[in-house]
Amino acid sequence: MARLKVGVPISGRGSNMAALAEACADPAFPAEIVLVLSNEQGAAGLERARAFGIETATIDHRGFPDRAAFDAAVTARLEAAGVELVCLAGFMRLFTAGFVEHWRDRLLNIHPSLLPAFRGLNTHERALAAGVRLHGCTVHFVRPELDDGPIVMQSAVPVQPGDTAERLATRVLAQEHRIYPAALRMVAEGAVRVEGERVVYRNDWNNDGLLVDPPLA
Ligand code: GAR
Repeated sequence: MARLKVGVPISGRGSNMAALAEACADPAFPAEIVLVLSNEQGAAGLERARAFGIETATIDHRGFPDRAAFDAAVTARLEAAGVELVCLAGFMRLFTAGFVEHWRDRLLNIHPSLLPAFRGLNTHERALAAGVRLHGCTVHFVRPELDDGPIVMQSAVPVQPGDTAERLATRVLAQEHRIYPAALRMVAEGAVRVEGERVVYRNDWNNDGLLVDPPLA
């Protein structure tokens, strides 16, 4: 079985990259990471990637005259490594529409909220300020608008009494590490496709587990 070749751009600690790498460490998993690429020289995730035996590269955005030039260099490096699918994992730079269109439906992102709520930064603080009962995370195909695009998978995380942004972030991150590998598996197996800007699934299922918070009496 040919495994789908994945490239993972990061900017920081790389815990989602590591969750994907752990899944890919199983030879039966339908994808493999062929390159982890950072725009930050000292990103901790680079060391973690090397510990998995994964090839790494750094492309510092500061060395480029504009976003388009940087994005073109990123695409060239990913393609040199044979990347077929890009999984953004805490990559904290916006890509140009040209980059996003080049990788259309071959570009996934993980975002720490139940999109389309709380696009952008500081999602946990904003979820607490808004008083939502259910927060969570989303894996989605990327479109040029910030944190926009067809949703592949989500996990809801109830807000607990007395939560701080840090506590909530920790529980959401644990869910990120579960759903990103699961979503990658579905994409790599061809179990999802994009139709009319929504994801449709090859197989039906019936999830009648109620996610209600506070719990029903
Ligand atoms: C993760 O929580 C990820 O969802 C978030 O950055 C963190 C990166 O952590 N991404 C975004 O906010 C993108 N809009 P990691 O480097 O440990 O995976």
